[in-house]
Amino acid sequence: MLDRRTLLATGAVAGASLIAAPALAAAKRIANPAFPKGFFWGASTAPHQVEGNNTASDLWFLENQKPTIFAEPSGDACNSFELWRTDLDLVKAMGLNSYRFGIEWARIEPEKGLFSRAMLDHYKAMIDGCRERGLSPIVTFNHFTAPRWFSAQGGWTNPESASLFARFCDTAMRAFGAGIAAAITFNEPNILLLLRTMLPPPVWDMQRVTLDTASKRLGVPRFVSANVAGLNDIDDLQKGQIAAHKAGKAAIKAVRGDLPVGFSLSMFDDQAAGKNSIRDRMRHELYDPWLDLAKADDFIGVQNYERAVWGDKGRLPPPAGAVLNWRGTEVYAPSLAGSVRYAHAATGVPVLISEHGVGTENDAIRATFITDSLGYLKTAMDEGVPVLGYCHWSLMDNFEWIFGYKGEYGLCGVDRKTFVRTPRPSAGVLGAFSRRNGLA
Ligand code: FCB
Repeated sequence: MLDRRTLLATGAVAGASLIAAPALAAAKRIANPAFPKGFFWGASTAPHQVEGNNTASDLWFLENQKPTIFAEPSGDACNSFELWRTDLDLVKAMGLNSYRFGIEWARIEPEKGLFSRAMLDHYKAMIDGCRERGLSPIVTFNHFTAPRWFSAQGGWTNPESASLFARFCDTAMRAFGAGIAAAITFNEPNILLLLRTMLPPPVWDMQRVTLDTASKRLGVPRFVSANVAGLNDIDDLQKGQIAAHKAGKAAIKAVRGDLPVGFSLSMFDDQAAGKNSIRDRMRHELYDPWLDLAKADDFIGVQNYERAVWGDKGRLPPPAGAVLNWRGTEVYAPSLAGSVRYAHAATGVPVLISEHGVGTENDAIRATFITDSLGYLKTAMDEGVPVLGYCHWSLMDNFEWIFGYKGEYGLCGVDRKTFVRTPRPSAGVLGAFSRRNGLA
């Protein structure tokens, strides 16, 4: 079981005190509040985090064993596998024009080579359901989870993984590719690189134990997942996912050459503090191979939650008096624009913000964060950074991976017994920007 204090004992080093984000009603400062025509205004989810009962997946297997790194199993999640129509109605009623969600490989190919027609039909119905409601479906092909059989064969470290992923992409595209608005092959394939700077050694040890236990249970040499990993898996995973992105993208394009394809990168807004800041070294370590790869894509997905201020030894703690999120890091509205500027400058391709949000029990923090972040973003856009859309994480509170049902990232709350979704005021704030396609 995961202890929150262990997780929060991060590598943050004490240092110069930082300047907090200037408080502003950003929307009011913007000379040109209108967003480009066709801008995607959306909310995001991931299949494992909302669907429930993802029983053929690798993470389900890890969640339901002892010992495990997971604070609790995902179980029914938000029951979105049943309630997806309700979810689409919610997105529509909020005034958004897009929904970013994932298709679950473990459902579509629950055993190697066995593709489920019923599950392909299920995701086709979701895509058609988006279109019927005037929503653009932005579809993630891999959001951390994989089929259990795939991870049992070494996951992304298996030399066969790129072709297995390409076969899955091809099958999915033939079944429902026609309706998709934009395709994201991988969600945050660099997340382990960021987590390496954030999680303390006992957490990595526990992840190793979790994976070793799974390997033993199945009698396989190396169970490898892309979400829970051992430190010694990371380099191989990166190589495998880079190859799989290329193969997956080629398979998607072979079916629909006109479909915009990219992947989503997890990005801090990295800032340098003091002399000899390690910021540039950290950027190199966290993003470089992926930024290079994105140069050949149609867009880069940016997923930003916070800034990281790097001193000469490591990451500096939040400034005194900063507003904090549930994990104890700073809520800092300019970070979205900062990461978007860097992603575009480094790749030259347009940006699709596929996630941005804050885990907090205080929805007023989320509402202000959305407003101010979009204000800073618009300034960057007016200075020439092409941005295709903004998808907020998340449509609703959901299963936050190893932490279980914590974090409250939702524009909607979810009753864990009845699965009733209740929009929060922040949903109205985002919806109003979408309805007027602008800030004012
Ligand atoms: C991102 C993940 C997403 C969710 C948010 C809070 O790293 O892509 O699934 O967990 O963080």
